[in-house]
Amino acid sequence: MVTQNFKEIAEQFGTPLYIYETDRIKENLSVILKFLTYPKHKVYFATMCNNQPEILKIIKGLGLGIQVNSDHELNLAKEAGFNSSDISFTSTGISKELIKILIEENIETNLDSAEEVGKFCAAIKNKTFGIRVRIPKRIKVNPDKATNIFSDSHTGIEEKDFDKIKEIARKSDNKITGVHGYFASNVHDTKPFIEFGNFLTDAALEFTDLEYINFGSGFGVRYSKKDKDFDFEKVLQYYSSLLRKLSKSFKREIILKIEPGRSIMADAGTLLVKITNIKNLNSRKSEISVNAGFAELARPRIYNSYHEIENSEKTGKPERVYDIRGNTVLQNDFLGYDRTLEEVREGDYLVIKKVGAYGIVMASGFPGKKLPGQVLINKDKIGME
Ligand SMILES: Cc1ncc(COP(=O)(O)O)c(C=O)c1O
Repeated sequence: MVTQNFKEIAEQFGTPLYIYETDRIKENLSVILKFLTYPKHKVYFATMCNNQPEILKIIKGLGLGIQVNSDHELNLAKEAGFNSSDISFTSTGISKELIKILIEENIETNLDSAEEVGKFCAAIKNKTFGIRVRIPKRIKVNPDKATNIFSDSHTGIEEKDFDKIKEIARKSDNKITGVHGYFASNVHDTKPFIEFGNFLTDAALEFTDLEYINFGSGFGVRYSKKDKDFDFEKVLQYYSSLLRKLSKSFKREIILKIEPGRSIMADAGTLLVKITNIKNLNSRKSEISVNAGFAELARPRIYNSYHEIENSEKTGKPERVYDIRGNTVLQNDFLGYDRTLEEVREGDYLVIKKVGAYGIVMASGFPGKKLPGQVLINKDKIGME
């Protein structure tokens, strides 16, 4: 985040406050595009990580497509100006009614089960759809930092059901033109991406009408200084090489799609909070209470995830160790443990970093709180249009 006068921002807009920065979004996207060397590609922004309307407009302005999971997200995408041809829908448990809307609005849809394929093909003939493929258990992800892993997941269509869905599609003159996969989020090792890429491209060979392959996302974010930057070069160049081979096999250009959220938005967002109390625990450590907690930023409590926390300005005082406590009264509502900060006073502000993805969208308002404010820094301008 560009150095800002957080105190001024806090006094102008109040706290707790999510602050987003347009330039970071652009920089993050440029890294992804740099290594996506296969020319026929399309990047969709995963709305689920942040659906703030002004953010979606920025994403639209950057020329990306958008990935949505629900009718509400579809409406937000349309309101932000996305055309049907730039929207991709992937979810689970899709109802008949929603399938009808997706067909009517001509939205590219990746179906998650043979039952959904059945509903789609009962509703329309001569159309195309994609499928979300079940990721085999042999593709293992280190659970250390990754989220959204479930070893017993039934998400996606298993390879053993491919013939069944092909037959359903054939009988209704529909074509399966896309293969989609997604295995976890915030994955740092490259190995599972390579294994997953191989698996998905092999699966795609089964579908003669193939037009695209969507590798989903899951790219890790450097939340802690101890983490390394995600190796986009290795993973995206590998995906690109797979697509070159796949296109050769099909004797036509297949489109490479990805739908990142976290890696575009996480470090473009900061949560500014105010210290409401300081409890002295012992000679080494104090507990800071702030005016936000898991209701505003759920990730530390849900995933035990780490976010850097910093003083909003230099205090010039000696450093001290702090636990940073949320304000929901729940005993385990903490935003960070054992953090070394320059000594703080009640009324100071703290900055919680890299919360632009899965921050505000997971804010619950529990118990009986207002949702935090949000502002956008776009060059020298600050506010929300
Ligand atoms: C299907 C699908 N696509 C894309 C994403 C975005 O993933 P990430 O935020 O890790 O980039 C998710 C996240 O859960 C997802 O479920």
